[in-house]
Amino acid sequence: MKTQLGNLSSEVITDKSVFEVIRDTVSQGLSEEPFYVLDLADVVYKMKLWQTALPRVRPFYAVKCNNHPVLLEFLASLGMGFDCASKVEIETILNMGVDKSRIIYANPCKTRSFIKHAADNGIALMTFDNEMELYKVKNLHQTARMVLRIRVDDSGAVCQLGMKFGCDVTVAPSLLKLAKELGVNVIGVSFHVGSGSQDVMAFSKAIKLARDVFDMGLELGFEMTLLDIGGGFPGTLVSSMTFEEVYSTINEALDEHFPHDCGVDIIAEPGRYMVASAFTLCVNIIAKRTTTMPAENGESVNMYYLNDGVYGSFNCIIFDHAEVTPDPLLPEDSKRDVCCSSLWGPTCDSMDRILQSCYLPDMNVGEWIVFQNMGAYTLAAASTFNGFEKPSVKVVLPLATWVYLQQLPTWPNLIKNLGLCQAQLDLFVDDQTTSQDVYFLHVAETVSV
Ligand SMILES: Cc1ncc(COP(=O)(O)O)c(C=O)c1O
Repeated sequence: MKTQLGNLSSEVITDKSVFEVIRDTVSQGLSEEPFYVLDLADVVYKMKLWQTALPRVRPFYAVKCNNHPVLLEFLASLGMGFDCASKVEIETILNMGVDKSRIIYANPCKTRSFIKHAADNGIALMTFDNEMELYKVKNLHQTARMVLRIRVDDSGAVCQLGMKFGCDVTVAPSLLKLAKELGVNVIGVSFHVGSGSQDVMAFSKAIKLARDVFDMGLELGFEMTLLDIGGGFPGTLVSSMTFEEVYSTINEALDEHFPHDCGVDIIAEPGRYMVASAFTLCVNIIAKRTTTMPAENGESVNMYYLNDGVYGSFNCIIFDHAEVTPDPLLPEDSKRDVCCSSLWGPTCDSMDRILQSCYLPDMNVGEWIVFQNMGAYTLAAASTFNGFEKPSVKVVLPLATWVYLQQLPTWPNLIKNLGLCQAQLDLFVDDQTTSQDVYFLHVAETVSV
């Protein structure tokens, strides 16, 4: 089977930084279309950090967050598990050759035919939070291993999922009893503290609550063997809650409520954490108007029209409550006036506004603006409204990471999927060494994926 990674050429491997790649690309002047740079080194770094920081928690990447095929293939090659929310997501992951045991169907309200599809394909792990789901599962999927999703305090999160999913803990006993009566096998508990969580204590409170529900399940005679701590982990360094705070809080709570020898497997469903910082978006200024806005006290405003907007990647402003930061790509010695500016998408809708007001150097049509940290909930929900294509994705794998990946047990998988041969690689590596090599090789010695 020809994989998506197999379509990549050796140009993917580079000794350049993401910004150098961007400058090289735009300076060629071949296209004015928007594009992403996907830095696979960032993905590897996140995985390694996770393994070091949360050694007891196995990640199942939430496919909904960003389903770019190269990203998924790469994660699969590194041994990642996957949280799928639909039949198509499950098929996508199975078609990559990932074993069914590495998938959790983590949507508590599932289409009946999708449950049947999961059963036919041996996907056993599924979440639920209501009675009807138990009746559906009893009829359609006799070998399901169900995980009860409880509602936890997500008041400190940007996207509060509790208003749609998760049963109140007071309802958990009756759901568990019904499962017992129906002969549906419940094996664990899951929760989600809300995406873009800013409250580190939400994790420890949720883990304690999950322990209570675990005990209810045990009392009813279920073999409770799985705790799923969901998503909600920060994806960038600019998050108000740091990953360090999160993992130390989680580890402490796990040690207290699910100690090492308790025989419970612990998984999580990180989305944003794995991909937010790996994608950098580059957009072109396609039009510019200078106007005077009454609200700005007569100050003139540069209105820039970009070739990606809220109907495309910047849908994150609406659905993910994201705040984006423009980074103008200017020649290094450029001296420009700084002006009040607004940024707009390319469609004919006035809702298509990216930033109402910011200060930017005076820029021209044809110049580029870069947005970092654009990997989470951007491309995955982008549309082609008004005939504007979604940005393409340029994949880069820094040479140093490539060197590091060779030491992994999953290396044969990766080399097969990347479609490169060792001889090509040796030539490349002999020629060049970067300071990053030392860093990644050091990390490689410390932990192995
Ligand atoms: C069930 C489930 N798991 C995991 C995630 C991923 O969350 P995050 O991106 O905050 O890690 C989501 C996001 O909506 C979700 O609904």
